[in-house]
Amino acid sequence: MGLRLCVLVLLLGDLQLQVTSAIRSFNIDYENNCFLKDGAPFRYISGSIHYFRIPTVYWKDRLLKMYMSGLNAVEVYVPWNYHEPLPGVYMFAENRDLEGFLDLAAELGLLVILRPGPYICAEWEMGGLPAWLLAQPNIVLRTSDLDFLQAVSKWLNVLLPKIKPRLYINGGNIISVQVENEYGSYYACDYDYLRYLRATFRSYLGEEVVLFTTDGLKESELQCGSLQGLYATVDFGPDVNITKAFERQRLYEPKGPLVNSEYYTGWLDYWGHPHSTRTDEVVAKGLQAILELGANVNMYMFQGGTNFGYWNGADYNRGYKPITTSYDYDSPLSEAGDPTTKLYAIRTVIGKFSALPAGPMPPPTPKIAYGYVPLLQCIALLDILPIISTSPPIHSSFPLTFEALKQAQGFILYRTLLPYTILEPVLLSAPENGVHDIAYILLNGEYKGTLERDKMNAINISGQAGTTLDLLVENMGHINFGSNHSDFKGLIHNLTLGYTILSNWLIYPLDVDLAVSPTWPLPNKGSTGPMFYRGTFTTGGINQDSYIKLPGWSKGQVWINGFNLGRFWPVRGPQHTLFVPGPFLSASAPNNITVLELQAAPEQPHVLFLDRPLLNGTSSSTHKVVEL
Ligand SMILES: *[C@@H]1O[C@H](CO)[C@@H](O)[C@H](O)[C@H]1NC(C)=O
Ligand SMILES: *[C@@H]1O[C@H](CO)[C@@H](O)[C@H](O)[C@H]1NC(C)=O
Ligand SMILES: *[C@@H]1O[C@H](CO)[C@@H](O)[C@H](O)[C@H]1NC(C)=O
Ligand SMILES: *[C@@H]1O[C@H](CO)[C@@H](O)[C@H](O)[C@H]1NC(C)=O
Ligand SMILES: *[C@@H]1O[C@H](CO)[C@@H](O)[C@H](O)[C@H]1NC(C)=O
Ligand SMILES: *[C@@H]1O[C@H](CO)[C@@H](O)[C@H](O)[C@H]1NC(C)=O
Repeated sequence: MGLRLCVLVLLLGDLQLQVTSAIRSFNIDYENNCFLKDGAPFRYISGSIHYFRIPTVYWKDRLLKMYMSGLNAVEVYVPWNYHEPLPGVYMFAENRDLEGFLDLAAELGLLVILRPGPYICAEWEMGGLPAWLLAQPNIVLRTSDLDFLQAVSKWLNVLLPKIKPRLYINGGNIISVQVENEYGSYYACDYDYLRYLRATFRSYLGEEVVLFTTDGLKESELQCGSLQGLYATVDFGPDVNITKAFERQRLYEPKGPLVNSEYYTGWLDYWGHPHSTRTDEVVAKGLQAILELGANVNMYMFQGGTNFGYWNGADYNRGYKPITTSYDYDSPLSEAGDPTTKLYAIRTVIGKFSALPAGPMPPPTPKIAYGYVPLLQCIALLDILPIISTSPPIHSSFPLTFEALKQAQGFILYRTLLPYTILEPVLLSAPENGVHDIAYILLNGEYKGTLERDKMNAINISGQAGTTLDLLVENMGHINFGSNHSDFKGLIHNLTLGYTILSNWLIYPLDVDLAVSPTWPLPNKGSTGPMFYRGTFTTGGINQDSYIKLPGWSKGQVWINGFNLGRFWPVRGPQHTLFVPGPFLSASAPNNITVLELQAAPEQPHVLFLDRPLLNGTSSSTHKVVEL
């Protein structure tokens, strides 16, 4: 009954809005099960967008398209690890210019639902938590552990003062702020931690602002994720009974607005698993049912975007599952920011409940197929170890983790010598899944195969005593969801050769991006193993968005003009192309492509630039050992 009343009042509310008083307010009307904005009933229809997954020059375009879809708000996560890459080092410029992004949303008349974490999930590297937290190996993440709280306090002391003047009630556009994220899905269920966050958010943001939590529909999730004084909301996709789903929220909030903080428009992709989709019809129908109930909704995602560089996260669910570079999410705006049929289906539904803005939807940005570009073998990674090492090699009897070496992402090389001559092949093995996450094995610089977490824990090798054994270990993304984020990287246990524990390591922390410089080519010394390739192409004066395909390549990283586009892994799939934003290309100078191939390159190394993405290519969930 309360619901119906709220819908009626909502209509009147629109009229009332035109004569609002000067006092800005945003709060909860428990009597009428609504939000109140400036004293009038208000409902948000929102979409999630991640500034950190979209090139900065495109932010405004994407927000405009969201506004033109009939949304009145956007929901925005803040990834702590993107803004504080090292303890006490804060970055808020260019693609990290959170305030600039919020200004653009305000300019377009969009309200903001802010989700500052400190944990965000988001299928982002470590769910937004900085990996440097794990330099204290006994830290207990997302709990009232003092080491964790101390780091959180320092960060919130930087972030929340930037937010306060931007609250709606203080003249800005942020109507509400989420505390933590799906905390009930985490094993700890530590109410002291939630109480600490509530007190900290209140002390920086004041008593007035609406603070809320978001959790899944399970009893245990809502129970461990919610706390008095934080408005409890839920998240669910179109595949559930929507009436029943909101009944779950009602168990925790008997009165007040119904809110789905994450209505899933699509889903994420894992390497080696089929491409995820949700049909327009199913998404539109569920949205209509939500809006008919008078509920508030945020669509997750409205635009997904891209995990450039090394920023993808991973799930842990019956094994380690890294997320693909593309975060297209099958969402209403594609990875490249183009309106899809799903967007129009959603807009039609929204139009039944509120007036759509006048004027046309901006069209898709043009795409160009720049075609075939040959690449030349350039230099082996082992030949430029001094250039890409971030410190002199560390001598250690036993392996050290990335975190112990204070390296968050990318690659570390572990080197030792074969302790004895092996005539008949012997197993080199990583007991207890000790390789996090992939190790490329080299003997005297020659690629011999790969060890992979949860997939391949041993490989037969042979060789003379004193042969150099290298393991180039790749961090495929810290776990972002599940019961445990203490996901140390590198060789996290000892390796054994037969019955011998390998010791006496030289460990090289690496920043391979340092090698991606146009001062090349350097001469290739005829080495093998992980190898850089280079090529150039010109755009004929028109730099537009494109997609790069890596035909016949195995596994690696690709850069355009020094910008790290992300990981490629066509032998695993399902993603076969990477998004190349036009603004990263030069219209006049030759554009420089760099490819790092970790396993096996094709016989005629080349890439193809296409005018459309290929996200649903072959995928194999079984491991394939690729031999050179
Ligand atoms: C959803 O659940 C409600 C309440 O239990 C029930 O009345 C309704 O028939 C269900 N709807 C569908 C489509 O199953
Ligand atoms: C190693 O070699 C042995 C003997 O040839 C073989 O039985 C075993 O399957 C091999 N293991 C792997 C992981 O290749
Ligand atoms: C989380 O993982 C770390 C590292 O593997 C381990 O030490 C810790 O016991 C785990 N915690 C839980 C609750 O499983
Ligand atoms: C490796 O083995 C040595 C010697 O047995 C042991 O002291 C050390 O703790 C082991 N390291 C790991 C990470 O298991
Ligand atoms: C590509 O590299 C060359 C030097 O090898 C440089 O002159 C050129 O400006 C680079 N192109 C771009 C777009 O940066
Ligand atoms: C993906 O490709 C497979 C195999 O070609 C096909 O069966 C499936 O329908 C495709 N899925 C989507 C969402 O296009």
